[in-house]
Amino acid sequence: VAAKVSLTVNGKPAALELDTRTTLLDALREHLHLTGSKKGCDHGQCGACTVMVDGRRVYSCLTLAVMHEGNEVTTIEGLGTPDNLHPMQAAFVKHDGYQCGYCTPGQICASVAMLQEIKDGIPSHVTADLAARPQLTVDEIRERMSGNICRCGAYSNIVEAITEVAGRQA
Ligand code: FES
Ligand code: FES
Repeated sequence: VAAKVSLTVNGKPAALELDTRTTLLDALREHLHLTGSKKGCDHGQCGACTVMVDGRRVYSCLTLAVMHEGNEVTTIEGLGTPDNLHPMQAAFVKHDGYQCGYCTPGQICASVAMLQEIKDGIPSHVTADLAARPQLTVDEIRERMSGNICRCGAYSNIVEAITEVAGRQA
């Protein structure tokens, strides 16, 4: 069954007509040709497909495009450009926060949204009360980023990059 859906993707309107079973990830990659978001597992286990929907991180492989009528979607292509990197992208470059790069768009979208969650006071099970301990620890970053797998094992560099950006935002 085909259905129409209108989204805003990286600040631009996108009107699509899709099979209702099309995931948001396939809509982005196959229909809008935004191939920065990666398909690692296609079933919610790796985080390579992470994008932001209305500022919150989601696994785009686990949600249908037609569920996002009117939503604002931000992908890695919408965060920065090669000439004008987002601060998180620049920090990943500086700290070598990637090896093959396959997980990197998802890691960066997730970490940008994660720092916003901290600002918004959303607790995790490491820090139930952010107000009492606002300092973002390595354990906290690892816990909050645990939905994004890196099979190259670049974790310590990823944490360094996020720590630097978090420190600047604090
Ligand atoms: Fe979506 Fe792996 S591709 S979580
Ligand atoms: Fe290769 Fe993370 S850099 S999977």
